[in-house]
Amino acid sequence: MVIAGGYESTQVDFAARPPGAVSTAGRRQRGTAYVQPTIAIQGDWDSMAQRDQVKQGGGRTLLVTGGAGFIGGNFAQHIRRAHPEWRVVVLDKLTYAGNEANLAALRGDPDLAFIRGDICDRADVERALDTLGGCDAVLNFAAETHVDRSILDPGAFVRTDVEGTYTLLEAARARGVARFIQISTDEVYGNAAAPDGTSRPSRETDALMPLSPYAASKAGADRLAFSYWATYGLPVVVTRCANNYGPYQYPEKQLPLFILNALHDRPLPVYGDGANTRDWIHVRDHCAALEAILLAPAEQVDGEVFNVGADEERSVLDNARLVLELLGKPDSLIQFVPDRLGHVRRHAVDSSRLRARLGWHPAMRFREGLAETVAWYQAHAEWLADVLAREDSFLHQARALAETAGGAR
Ligand SMILES: NC(=O)c1ccc[n+]([C@@H]2O[C@H](COP(=O)([O-])OP(=O)(O)OC[C@H]3O[C@@H](n4cnc5c(N)ncnc54)[C@H](O)[C@@H]3O)[C@@H](O)[C@H]2O)c1
Repeated sequence: MVIAGGYESTQVDFAARPPGAVSTAGRRQRGTAYVQPTIAIQGDWDSMAQRDQVKQGGGRTLLVTGGAGFIGGNFAQHIRRAHPEWRVVVLDKLTYAGNEANLAALRGDPDLAFIRGDICDRADVERALDTLGGCDAVLNFAAETHVDRSILDPGAFVRTDVEGTYTLLEAARARGVARFIQISTDEVYGNAAAPDGTSRPSRETDALMPLSPYAASKAGADRLAFSYWATYGLPVVVTRCANNYGPYQYPEKQLPLFILNALHDRPLPVYGDGANTRDWIHVRDHCAALEAILLAPAEQVDGEVFNVGADEERSVLDNARLVLELLGKPDSLIQFVPDRLGHVRRHAVDSSRLRARLGWHPAMRFREGLAETVAWYQAHAEWLADVLAREDSFLHQARALAETAGGAR
């Protein structure tokens, strides 16, 4: 399947539908009260019959939580481009990481509804599920996501990542949604290793050994979601993706922080010896994997866990050097800073299960994707200026880390 821009998103047959995917029609009410006027334009359904007609024609309505964040925002855009007949309801609390500008490309889209709300709040979740005629599938991206922040304030992570997921699962169970995709992370594995301790990419059957409060909260949500499949038969799919990069990523995270600091000739803070490695996947490839899962029949995916990775393992130091090379800046901007507490040495995933079962494969190579990402940040000065104008002391400290704690090597 090819979407606008010639981007090959997935090889999965679009016509394949999970059995019962739209079986809940007729049990829902239309929600209006919580839809904010900024982006949201409520679907203009004249009647339930009209809605059902659209759904029978292949339309679906997705609840995308955390859709004003980095991956959720990219996913909402991806789905509206790839499946114009599908509708998207975004539920987002707009924390420091949420940004309505991440959805600006969809402004005025009558098939996108934006609801500002909290996944920990059952009433917010129910209203979102009932918007645009009722949601068939839930993709739970909403989370507190930064490892360093979780070291400072673990409670926020337990609340949103665990309690919020519980609230969503309960509401989804009550509504009988046809698919619930829990966006987990490869962080749940801790250091990538075989049971005998030998280092190798993590497999879905490996033990979960999270090392940070973020990873532990996500592991709790990951297993809680699975338990709703095992116990109640809620059609849950869990995905564990590698590190994402691409447009709209909040610059507290490694690659956008490096890009931003390099653009401003400020030092790039590299933790420890810089040898820690991660597997990097372009956000569009992650979105295409989730799309493939949405399109797959129930017997192929329900109750399953899928790793999502691109086999692009790179060290922090490799990344710092490549960003500087792409921007024509000197390596002397690299500064080593004291290591992160509980820093995972290696994250990498074996995603052969997803590739074999659904025919998905990543399309973007890292160097090409990073060059495109650097160009995106250069071209979006307004987006960056808006983010930098926020009163987020953590972000400003993270950017200044190399100046306050560093030592050049
Ligand atoms: N970024 C990565 O490299 C990566 C890799 C694997 C998995 N993931 C997972 O993907 C998901 C999205 O990650 P991201 O990088 O886009 O995160 P992000 O921090 O950019 O966005 C998170 C979004 O969730 C929203 N949110 C936070 N708490 C909320 C709440 N209580 N109710 C409603 N909305 C809330 C925020 O406002 C924000 O828009 C997360 O679940 C994360 O664990 C991320």
